[in-house]
Amino acid sequence: MTLLKVDNLTVSFPTSDGVVQAVRGLSFEVEAGQTLGIVGESGSGKSVSALTMLGLNPGADITGSVTFDGRDMLRLSPRELQQIRGADIAMIFQDPLSALHPHFRVGWQIREAIRAHTDVSNAEARHMAVDLLRLVNIPQPDRRVDAFPHELSGGMRQRVMIAMALALKPKLLIADEPTTALDATVQAQLMELLASMQREVDMAMIVITHDLGVVARIADKVQVMYAGRAAEMADANTLFHQTHHPYTRGLLASLPGSAITSSRLLPIVGQPPSLINLPSGCAFHPRCPFAMDRCMREMPSLMAVEGGEDHLSACYLPREMVGVSVAVDTARQRYAADKQGLRAVRLPGVAAAREEVPALA
Ligand SMILES: Nc1ncnc2c1ncn2[C@@H]1O[C@H](COP(=O)(O)OP(=O)(O)OP(=O)(O)O)[C@@H](O)[C@H]1O
Ligand SMILES: [Mg+2]
Repeated sequence: MTLLKVDNLTVSFPTSDGVVQAVRGLSFEVEAGQTLGIVGESGSGKSVSALTMLGLNPGADITGSVTFDGRDMLRLSPRELQQIRGADIAMIFQDPLSALHPHFRVGWQIREAIRAHTDVSNAEARHMAVDLLRLVNIPQPDRRVDAFPHELSGGMRQRVMIAMALALKPKLLIADEPTTALDATVQAQLMELLASMQREVDMAMIVITHDLGVVARIADKVQVMYAGRAAEMADANTLFHQTHHPYTRGLLASLPGSAITSSRLLPIVGQPPSLINLPSGCAFHPRCPFAMDRCMREMPSLMAVEGGEDHLSACYLPREMVGVSVAVDTARQRYAADKQGLRAVRLPGVAAAREEVPALA
């Protein structure tokens, strides 16, 4: 069953410098119980799309539709939205310190989250809070329930956030960069925890991150975003092993210590474009070692990748060309970049590296 359907979502912010086109024609679906990973560099529109889905983007110009559980999220009243947030959709934000109130004990904050939507006594809510803290593996939950946020480590505060989010057994949990502030071991534990929670309460999840390694571990389906658009979308296995889009391959190449990292993949050079002055055609073309003439003129939309089931890529590169050497005129690329007022893109040593790129079957 489709729980969330985002259709042609566009979000822009009018500013004194011009219109920031943060999200441009995004479409995807999340099935009940499924995990979607959304990956992309900083500024690619991941958080803006998540916030828009929750009706949390005042001041933005929004078109398209977001349907959650049969309801049009972009047409609901603030009151209706508030009811859905916290009851049916929960969100874990990047920074747990800013999301937790510093002056209240964590147990009190969890109890308030519970009592805002369910009619239970104070004592019952406290009991539930302790159970939730135990569920998210916080040691000595009956004592920690009385702690203030600053008395807990970063990893524990994230667990408290998860406990709060899970308090109401939401149908959908959106976790925006839930692990950025944490070290690798704690990150891994937290991801395992989210995955096991998900099995237990049968909720769908959207996990937003710039780290492909994180989504590799838990996502069923992955959407890669670039400059407010979907670059590639597939089930996690396909995305990792039959990668099509040069941007995705660049992300894989920059995974530290990954087995996938090798000379077969080209890391991404240069900076993401300005969202006020987007490049013509494919927004990735100034940084793409495979850019063709067409890529500078036409904006590719998501297309089915030949031979791949439910594998979509917004790239004109033919399947058989993926991974093989493509003649690139770097001077032409630099010219295109200069013309758009972008930082000139240099691709040092790219010709040599490209020779080694075999077809990724
Ligand atoms: N209220 C706003 N007004 C103007 N521009 C905005 C506003 N909110 C976001 N943006 C811009 O929209 C773009 C997308 O931002 P978003 O926060 O979605 O990026 P992100 O992919 O979540 O990045 P990160 O990985 O850093 O969290 C950015 O260029 C950002 O500066
Ligand atoms: Mg973000």
